[in-house]
Amino acid sequence: MSQAEDHDGTRRDFLYYATGAAGAVTAGAAVWPLVNQMNPSADVQALSSIRVDVSGVEVGTQLTVKYLGKPVFIRRRTQDEIDAARAVELSELIDPIAENPNLPSDASATDANRSLDEAGEWLVMIGVCTHLGCVPIGDGAGEFGGWFCPCHGSHYDSAGRIRKGPAPENLHIPVAEFVDDTTIKLG
Ligand code: FES
Repeated sequence: MSQAEDHDGTRRDFLYYATGAAGAVTAGAAVWPLVNQMNPSADVQALSSIRVDVSGVEVGTQLTVKYLGKPVFIRRRTQDEIDAARAVELSELIDPIAENPNLPSDASATDANRSLDEAGEWLVMIGVCTHLGCVPIGDGAGEFGGWFCPCHGSHYDSAGRIRKGPAPENLHIPVAEFVDDTTIKLG
């Protein structure tokens, strides 16, 4: 198979998976970034930093934004989600690393090391399954009350940590910070 054919096959797979996971994110975010990440245009790549107004995000809901060609989940967690994530022992985790570029690369995957603010209300993650790149379904989906990837059955907990299924790593976290009370800067 030539390289071009191989790319075509991969692209079809991504489009299929995106359709299957359309409930996870806004329609635009489900399809657009997966297509564009195969061949990002110069203007997309140039947007190395964006600011997101999160003032309208209610507790228990999430916003999906497009950043560098990928969906990014910004979830405002309930206290129950925070408590559940913080009650998990590190020994229970498949991937013990935080996967958070805002911390040292060997930082452990405690909930505190993955959430954006000290109280743990805000969780910001790249919405791409670490198995083969589908967009997981959110809003408490899966067996661990977080995200579920229907492609091959990966379950992530309310901190986005892989708990069951073929995905090898926790959902990755982007470079992110609050720049004021209601604005998160990505990148
Ligand atoms: S891509 Fe998510 S489980 Fe395979």
